Amino acid sequence: MIYVKTEEEIEKMRAACDLTSRTLGEVARWVRPGETTRRLDTIAREFVLDHGGKPACLGYEGFPGTLCIEVNETVVHGFPSGYVLREGDVVGTDLVVELDGYNGDSCYTFPVGEVDPKVMQLLKVTKESLYVGIEAARAGKRVGDISNAVQTWCERRGYSVVREMCGHGIGRDMHEDPEVPNYGRRGIGPVLRKGMCIAIEPMINLGSKNIVIERNGWECRTRDRKPSAHFEHTVAITDGAPEILTTFRYIDESLGSHPLRESVEESEETPHN
Ligand code: MF3
Ligand code: CO
Repeated sequence: MIYVKTEEEIEKMRAACDLTSRTLGEVARWVRPGETTRRLDTIAREFVLDHGGKPACLGYEGFPGTLCIEVNETVVHGFPSGYVLREGDVVGTDLVVELDGYNGDSCYTFPVGEVDPKVMQLLKVTKESLYVGIEAARAGKRVGDISNAVQTWCERRGYSVVREMCGHGIGRDMHEDPEVPNYGRRGIGPVLRKGMCIAIEPMINLGSKNIVIERNGWECRTRDRKPSAHFEHTVAITDGAPEILTTFRYIDESLGSHPLRESVEESEETPHN
């Protein structure tokens, strides 16, 4: 069952998504060698609570954090921990915030200090693929058009697409229909309609697409232990261009003021807001 949202509901989605984005902007200031992932989680939790939001992942089916922490080979759903970030790591922070009954969902993968150029390229292409997927998210098109756009962008550049995890509808619940896979054929799947809200979230690997789920039932890593990247926006389908409800603007602002911490660039050919 896919919900179509009213303008009033989309307005609430905008507010939840803005808080989600501002929280990731705050997290961005703390990403550096020597900081623990638990510290990032605490920063996020306090920021969300201070602004009247609810950290939606915390306690969700027993998940132990506000942020899902994705260091290097961790694909999704990593736990915040005492792990100390090191120069050369990449760390994804995936966040869902509930505000006034609606959810915003966004993820950004940060380089920690100087990172291997091959891994920086993975981050760049994954981020680009998010905007390529968003560009395909138009009323009258189908979910498979988004999936195919993301897959084609990444595979043409030599990366592999994780199959087991998908984007999703979002609204009152953090996970609603439809599923939004990052691979698949054009022209298949549910038709997109004005008022639908979806989270698009490519999870892209440097090596093979295969993943392993740890015995805690949550943490998911690449089988070959090569790095994985993950970027996510919450998007509303409109009459025309998709409206990106979350934004990396706050992250860019935070990182922009720090010469040692670059944000992940996109190339000129990528459509973005
Ligand atoms: N953005 C993640 C997702 O879409 C959030 C997971 S939160 C958790 O699956 F609670 F499931 F960990
Ligand atoms: Co999501």
